[in-house]
Amino acid sequence: MLLAGMRANWYGLLGKKFKDTFGHVGGSSLGGLVGLRKPVNHGVPYSLTEEFTSVYRLHQLLPDSIHLRNINVAPGPNKSPPLLEEVPMPDLIGHKGEKTLSQIGFTRQFVSMGHQACGALELWNYPSWLRDLVAQDVDGKDRPDHVDLAALEIYRDRERKVARYNQFRRALLLIPISKWEDLTEDKNAIEVLKDVYGDDVEELDLMVGLMAEKKIKGFAISETAFIVFLLMATRRLEADRFFTSDFNEETYTKKGFEWVNTTESLKDVLDRHYPEISKKWMNSTSAFSVWDSPPNAPNPIPLYLRFPSS
Ligand code: HEM
Repeated sequence: MLLAGMRANWYGLLGKKFKDTFGHVGGSSLGGLVGLRKPVNHGVPYSLTEEFTSVYRLHQLLPDSIHLRNINVAPGPNKSPPLLEEVPMPDLIGHKGEKTLSQIGFTRQFVSMGHQACGALELWNYPSWLRDLVAQDVDGKDRPDHVDLAALEIYRDRERKVARYNQFRRALLLIPISKWEDLTEDKNAIEVLKDVYGDDVEELDLMVGLMAEKKIKGFAISETAFIVFLLMATRRLEADRFFTSDFNEETYTKKGFEWVNTTESLKDVLDRHYPEISKKWMNSTSAFSVWDSPPNAPNPIPLYLRFPSS
């Protein structure tokens, strides 16, 4: 469903073949959003919104350690490389991180990350190491006061006056919650939410709500966050000058423009720049799947006519 939506946004309902052959034809529905002659701004200068920043706070995706793989051997089943060792995340950030990562090297790091699942966007899954971060000053010196990023994220949303969860949903024309049970079926979570916010659901902080929200089947992110991602994806394509008035060879160079028009996925980028990585170590169709998962079976039904599977 997401892929069909993204392709319709980019190419329009007439599809990629039509756009590649005849260029941008018709309005944004038929011809797609990319390549409009002028940005469509709806009276507001283009920018990434604070709401987008807030729903992009996805630090729960990060693991506790990287499972470093041995890439100097032949691939195992489904192109998986054997595990070498687990490297704790605190060794991979800050000053120490620079050293560790240069010892690991790009290819080994990339392949290892490809073969590791990310964390779930749920309550109680915030990485502990992000709650005790050493930040650096502009001169590169470690600062004495450590950062509790989980607390800071809530603080940032509040100081930027991003709407709390319920108001945020209302602004997106989504139904707000009137009791904790509308948000989640997790009894333990409800107990803790009551403990922190009492019965006042209007006080619920956005980030807490996004993590606690019962997910739609098959979705990793909450419905609330998904709507903002969708809106922002469309808005970027219709209002960013690099997709509208400056979507041309002069801006991108001939080669660059050709790349933009022939690249659809992260896998395409890998295939172009690191073909030896994707060929040897990637079994999946998407670079965002865990790489030893099975490739998608070919589907003869056109993308727009398929029913969502989950
Ligand atoms: C090693 C990995 C990471 C570290 C150490 C890290 C650390 C941080 C820190 C220190 C901040 C700034 C807090 C502040 O002063 O407000 C921040 C902000 C942020 N991070 Fe991360 N982060 C990491 C990975 C990620 C990932 C994977 C995502 C999303 C997929 C992400 C999304 C964000 C967002 C959206 C912000 C807010 C930016 C803003 O306020 O403009 N970060 N992160």
